[in-house]
Amino acid sequence: MIKAIKGTRDILPPESAVWNRVEETAREVLSVYGFSEIRTPVFESTELFARGVGADTDIVAKEMYTFDDRDSRSLTLRPEGTASVVRAYLEHQLHRDPQIWKVYYLGPMFRRERPQKGRFRQFHQLGAEVLGSDHPAIEAEVIELLQLFLDRIGVGETELLVNSIGCGHCRPGFLRKLQVALSEIEDRLCQDCRRRCRSNPLRVLDCKREACQPVIERLPSILEFLDEPCRLHFDRFLGYLERRDIGFRIVPRLVRGLDYYTRTTFEITSRGLGAQNALVGGGRYDGLAEVLGGQPTQGFGFALGLERVILLSRQGDRPASAGQPQLFVAPLGEPALDRASLMAREFRRQGIHCFMDFAPRSLKSALRLANKLQAGHVLIVGENELKTGQFPLKRMRDGRQILVSETEVVSRLENGF
Ligand code: HAM
Repeated sequence: MIKAIKGTRDILPPESAVWNRVEETAREVLSVYGFSEIRTPVFESTELFARGVGADTDIVAKEMYTFDDRDSRSLTLRPEGTASVVRAYLEHQLHRDPQIWKVYYLGPMFRRERPQKGRFRQFHQLGAEVLGSDHPAIEAEVIELLQLFLDRIGVGETELLVNSIGCGHCRPGFLRKLQVALSEIEDRLCQDCRRRCRSNPLRVLDCKREACQPVIERLPSILEFLDEPCRLHFDRFLGYLERRDIGFRIVPRLVRGLDYYTRTTFEITSRGLGAQNALVGGGRYDGLAEVLGGQPTQGFGFALGLERVILLSRQGDRPASAGQPQLFVAPLGEPALDRASLMAREFRRQGIHCFMDFAPRSLKSALRLANKLQAGHVLIVGENELKTGQFPLKRMRDGRQILVSETEVVSRLENGF
């Protein structure tokens, strides 16, 4: 038997109803905050991510689904959405518009990670990006909207972790200091970290290996190296959070796993998720547009793992509703089925959620199935009923039954029988 690929999964009903509810809530919240939807392609040129996300990140070095197209061009299934959004912004020359650009996306991303609880190879992100503003208040506002969304979904307790990783001006000083500190303790780090000590020392701070943690803890903190403008930006950001009563914890090691960040970085975590505890990740990426060959453009955004949000929302006590049929149409015999299915078409056109039963079965067995589906009512369509034009309509809640004509059915259902 052919099975779904490891790290991918089918979203079946009734779980798909939970997805719809979460996505609808996301659209509502993002729209009141002035975000519009963007849909970018699922595959892009490999170079976009290699340059945008950074060649020495885990994502680019180990996790991308990359393949040569038939014309030998290297393509990659998108591992994240920010690089694509910035590419689209530049490609469509949206910087000409003086306004800030606020967009969101919902869709599948692909990373070849080791699958575990909350971690997949095809997963789904809700992401939002604000291009064209360097104001720290916009950062607090984006976090505020995330809080509203997570509250509405009911994911339970979360923690906001924040940091600043400085800019091209102040980070090199920190990196020099970090490199010196790393050279002294390098032999106590894992192989990946040792490689990164030379290629991309900031990434060492991001290592998740248990054994490296005590060593990393004692490395210098980037916050002590911020220049005046970066320090001021960070303080103002924290001030805007405080004025919104948004609690946070400053984590100087929070450098995030992608290379495009400048200044503010943040994550929202939840204890309910186990090892993969990051629900949301984001930050500022003022240099990304230039790395991609475009005009300097300030950017800030986040992405949230929908599988993880849904995992948490299902831990609450709200069962998913697949939607029970209002009406179960039970034809008795093949000739009646043809007319009954045309009747069902009419009921549906009038907005009735209708289950049409095509299986040959007895009335008793039809009623049993209607019960199982939690149908509100059953309409019985047999040869005799078609002759007289009067059909038994049974209310399942109390078993009450009345005779109705075809044209009366909808108004009966709408007016409570
Ligand atoms: P990220 O931290 O790589 O950031 O991913 C964001 C979120 O996607 C994570 O917090 C997690 O919930 C979810 N996620 C990531 N990998 C997986 C996986 N393998 N399985 C399930 N869920 C996963 C970004 O992608 C940036 N583009 C965020 C951003 C937007 N920064 C600025 N703008």
